[in-house]
Amino acid sequence: MDNRSIGVFDSGLGGLTAVKQIMRELPNESIIYFGDTGRVPYGSRSKETIIKYSKNDINFLLSKDVKLIVIACGTASSAALPALRGDYEIPIIGVVEPTAAAALNATKNGKIGIIGTSGTIKSGSYEKLLKEARPDIITFSQACPLFVPLVENGHFDTKVAELVVSEYLENIRTQGVDTLILGCTHYPLLKNTIARFMGSGVTLIDAGAEVAKELKRHFDKNELHSREHDRQQYQYYVSDDIAGFAELGGLFLEQKIDGQVENIDI
Ligand code: DGL
Repeated sequence: MDNRSIGVFDSGLGGLTAVKQIMRELPNESIIYFGDTGRVPYGSRSKETIIKYSKNDINFLLSKDVKLIVIACGTASSAALPALRGDYEIPIIGVVEPTAAAALNATKNGKIGIIGTSGTIKSGSYEKLLKEARPDIITFSQACPLFVPLVENGHFDTKVAELVVSEYLENIRTQGVDTLILGCTHYPLLKNTIARFMGSGVTLIDAGAEVAKELKRHFDKNELHSREHDRQQYQYYVSDDIAGFAELGGLFLEQKIDGQVENIDI
């Protein structure tokens, strides 16, 4: 039992896709979220920069005395987590392993599409895990650098989103994948548009949802659950404008979060 909060971070809004699922999987837990909105996007930056930013984010959450940290960011999980694992006393969980495992579970024809930021695709993190587990798996990868700015600007299900989705996903669609990994936590916000374009025969694997399920398994195994039922609190921190984050974040989480968002200098 541990009544401390769970720390979660991402470069911006995307990690809220994990937060929403964590609220469902672990309704008694308190969450401290950090969105590094002043430095978004992470996906187009060098590995060294992503590691540096991730360290800053982890240190901020550690200053809040969290019991565990979720890297709700495909880019930081791919580019930074392998270098940082073992450097901290509390557990740090990333999105790549649980998401790859869910895709392996879902595919019937062994053809898996992977979409993510340039950093994630360049790292080859998903392919590596998929092929280690099953060498017969065929993967098709595509970086989608315009998806993050679309989401950060509230284009979840608009004509602009449709156009960009079709531009990036056409190649993968024609390859006959039956499973598509949304390897960036921003992408589930475009889920409706992506699902319409890919068609009903393709299962979308949501990195935010998978990391939340992994967290629940981790809590059950290590008895990390909070004892204080009904006293959970949600606190959000950003490194830039509060209003835009509170508005879009609240819309996505389907609960008002203004008043719970603070600005920090990371
Ligand atoms: N949401 C993040 C990810 O999962 C970061 C996107 C970005 O900042 O480029 O990759």
